[in-house]
Amino acid sequence: MTDRIIPIVIAVDGPAASGKGTIARALAQYFGLGHMDTGVLYRAVALTMFRFGGDPGNEFEAVRACEGVPQVDPADPELRSEAVSAIASRISAYPGVRAALLERQRHFAAGADGAVLDGRDIGTVIAPNANVKLFVTASPEVRAQRRVRELLGRGMPAHYDDVLIDIQARDARDSGRDSAPLRQADDAELLDTSELEIEDAVAAAIKLVEARLATSD
Ligand code: CDP
Repeated sequence: MTDRIIPIVIAVDGPAASGKGTIARALAQYFGLGHMDTGVLYRAVALTMFRFGGDPGNEFEAVRACEGVPQVDPADPELRSEAVSAIASRISAYPGVRAALLERQRHFAAGADGAVLDGRDIGTVIAPNANVKLFVTASPEVRAQRRVRELLGRGMPAHYDDVLIDIQARDARDSGRDSAPLRQADDAELLDTSELEIEDAVAAAIKLVEARLATSD
């Protein structure tokens, strides 16, 4: 991989708790590329609104909150709270919010060292010319189990039935919105992780990327 002159861009899209974040991080490390979790941008807008009491039902206020993104620490645990997740899911449907966050993502993707970006619309909108596109998915039931484990691991309360309903609602919002809905790009490789442990999912993703890079130049 190291003798490539043109930097590699890998787009990883998929629904909530599909494993796309872990896979994207592992791919970035394996191929020596930068990594951007684009969900953090939407969460940072949501956290800004949450802190300043903005109304998530108001697109104008949400667009204004995009100016707060650089002030948010991407490692702030509050980004992962239920309240912030719920606001993020709503404000990410606004075309104005998506437009305000677009350049930051495109700029990262155009970096000299190459990049892995994970999100919902990387292969379709942000980096349509990415060298490799993966669409990572898993059944809603498996994703709900993973999310419960993750929340409990962080000492947060979690009930399977509630989490499953939340995941299904989020899927419907992600796929049903007019602006950059979640969908598999025509040229994306599908990776279903329902039956895979995380290390097997990562190994499968590396294989798919290597196969795709070998057939392109
Ligand atoms: O995996 P999970 O859905 O819990 O969270 P995330 O990937 O951090 O995304 C947070 C929110 O931002 C979700 O509601 C997504 O719908 C939204 N998002 C988006 O609309 N576009 C992206 N490229 C990334 C996230």
